[in-house]
Amino acid sequence: MVDRPVVFSGMQPTGVLHLGNLLGALRPWVLEQHQFQNFFCIVDLHALSQPHDPQELADKTRQVAALYIASGIDPEVSTLLVQSHLHEHTDLAWILGCVTPVGWLERMTQFKDKAHRQDAERIGTGLFTYPVLMAADILLYRTNFVPVGEDQRQHLELTRNIAVRFNRLFGATFVIPEPRIGRMGAGGRVMALDDPETKMSKSAEGETGRIALLDPPARIRSKLMRAKTDSGSAVDVAHAGAGVANLLDIYRGLTSCTPEQLASEFDGDGYGKLKGKIADAVISTLTPIQERYRELMADPTHIDAILAKGATRAREVAGATMAEVRQRVGLLPTAPLG
Ligand code: TYM
Repeated sequence: MVDRPVVFSGMQPTGVLHLGNLLGALRPWVLEQHQFQNFFCIVDLHALSQPHDPQELADKTRQVAALYIASGIDPEVSTLLVQSHLHEHTDLAWILGCVTPVGWLERMTQFKDKAHRQDAERIGTGLFTYPVLMAADILLYRTNFVPVGEDQRQHLELTRNIAVRFNRLFGATFVIPEPRIGRMGAGGRVMALDDPETKMSKSAEGETGRIALLDPPARIRSKLMRAKTDSGSAVDVAHAGAGVANLLDIYRGLTSCTPEQLASEFDGDGYGKLKGKIADAVISTLTPIQERYRELMADPTHIDAILAKGATRAREVAGATMAEVRQRVGLLPTAPLG
């Protein structure tokens, strides 16, 4: 069999997964999983970079795995792994950190945003070095493509820069990965329903801006009916303002329809009608995911078994990369434990 290009991506098991995570990442992963050799990770170590509750982190790690599968990731086709199950991720992160200039990390806007919201004496170093661990995740698997939302673009650029620098210093080792953003025509940046100028986010305080993947239908409908729209009264797809454009983008992300189909479906509709149609589409997408999720969560040992198998498969690739990296930088081979 011809080797398929490698895809790696991941999500933090923090907050509640929402429509932005589905449209920016999960749905593209599912739709393209047969074209690639995939590694889909639950990045629990990244979740430690912010204050957290230990029991909640453990529960959420399993929940995210269940949501991956419930959304259509097939564990027989794609490898599902928990980041902390493979020490190779942190091993490589240390080595990459040693070749990553501090100035590159200081420029990361996500760090600046998050750090800005906290007292400098309380911010962990992990929040600062977070993108280096992300680079390690990606480079370990000799990844060709990284399907993510628009908000991860800068981290991807950094990953590429780190890989190029390492290769220049120690010889060609890493594949230079490419971001894959908004390839399904929509969903690269889903905005908050109550403020279409900011992105839909797991960590935003109020929940009116986001639709959680596990929200019941009545809540989904009521959040959408209250979504902020434009000052006009009827939809004009070609000239939609931020609020309406976001709702249309959500619809496109869910249905993969073309801009022409969007115009013939919605042009001239009142905003109430538009919101009702979007609510129908969101509910009919999320209902089967929620049903499957509940079935999976009823048997946690099954999820754990899938993750254990994923770790074994992932280690074959990650271990080989680490052996090469160690040799490149001059670390003696590890002796087998006797
Ligand atoms: P995280 O957990 O914040 O988000 C998971 C994925 O969802 C996408 N996303 C969105 N897409 C569209 N609209 C939105 N409003 C929206 N919000 C989130 C994110 O872009 C992401 O694809 N640093 C990463 C996790 C990570 C990772 C990696 C990703 C760690 N290592 C290696 C890829 C490869 C993060 O915090 O994603």
